[in-house]
Amino acid sequence: MEKIKVILSGASGRLCTVIAKLIESRDDCEVVCGVDITGTAAFPIVDSFDKIPCSADVVIDCSHHTVAPKLADYLVRTNTPAVICTTGHTDDEERALREASEKVAVIKSRNMSLGINLLSELVKRAATVLGSDFDIEVIEAHHRNKIDAPSGTALMLADAAKEARDAADLDTEYVYERASKREKRGDAEIGISSIRGGTIVGEHSVIFAGNNEVLTLSHSAESRDLFGTGAIRAALFIADKPAGFYTMSDVIAEIL
Ligand SMILES: NC(=O)c1ccc[n+]([C@@H]2O[C@H](COP(=O)([O-])OP(=O)(O)OC[C@H]3O[C@@H](n4cnc5c(N)ncnc54)[C@H](O)[C@@H]3O)[C@@H](O)[C@H]2O)c1
Repeated sequence: MEKIKVILSGASGRLCTVIAKLIESRDDCEVVCGVDITGTAAFPIVDSFDKIPCSADVVIDCSHHTVAPKLADYLVRTNTPAVICTTGHTDDEERALREASEKVAVIKSRNMSLGINLLSELVKRAATVLGSDFDIEVIEAHHRNKIDAPSGTALMLADAAKEARDAADLDTEYVYERASKREKRGDAEIGISSIRGGTIVGEHSVIFAGNNEVLTLSHSAESRDLFGTGAIRAALFIADKPAGFYTMSDVIAEIL
C-alpha cells in the first residue's frame, strides 16, 4: 500500500509535533515536508509554501490563522487537499479557505476529536428528540492556564443543540452566568458553565434535564493526542475526496 504523503503546516508547533510522532508509528502515511518559521525535525522544514520541494497527498495545517490566504493559494496551485485544524480565522481568511474548497477538498473543524464530533451529533439528536420538555446545560472543565471561557468546544456543543432547536422553531438564548440574574430559568436558555483548575485536559458534558429524568452526554479528553489522532483520520479521509468543504460530520457519516 502506497503511503499517504503529508505536509505539516505549523510543523514545529505543539499539535504538529504530536501528529508527526503519531504518523511515525503508522504505516499508512508519512510526513514529507513541514512549513514553519522556526524549528527543525526529522523531515525538511521550509519557511514558506513556495519553497516546498516535493508534492504531497494532503496538507495538515496547525499553524496560525493568518497563514490561510497563502495556504489556500498553495492548495489550489498544487491541487492538494487539506485538513485545517487552525482556529481563529477572520471572515476574509475563512473566505479564502472556502474559495479554495471550490477547487480542492478541504476539511475543517474547531475540534478534531472524533469523540467530540460524535458527541456533537448525539447532542443534536437528543435535542431533537427531547425538544422543549428538557432544559439544556453545557458544562466544561479545563486546566488552570486556559485563558478563554467558555471553550470553543462548549460553544460547538451548544450550537449543535441550538441547530436542533432552530429546526423545531424553538428560541435559544445562551446564558453564561446566573449570579447577576436572580430569576427563574427561561425556556429558551442553554446555560454554559466553565470550571478552571489544575491540569484538567478537557471535560465536556451536556445535560438534558426534564421532569423526573436527566440525560447526560459527556466526553473526557485524557491528552492532546486525541486531536492529532483525529487530524490524521481526517487526512486519510480527505486525501482522495473531490473538491468541497467538509467537516468531521462527513468523516462520521462515512463510517456509519
Ligand atoms: N482543531 C483542533 O482540534 C485543534 C486542536 C488543538 C489546536 N488547534 C489549533 O491549531 C493551531 C496550532 O495550535 P498549537 O497548539 O500547535 O500552536 P503552536 O503555537 O504550538 O504552533 C503553531 C506553529 O505555527 C507556526 N507558525 C506561526 N505563524 C506561522 C507562519 N506565518 N508560517 C508558518 N508557520 C507559522 C509557529 O511557529 C508554531 O510552530 C491553533 O490555531 C490552535 O487553536 C486546533
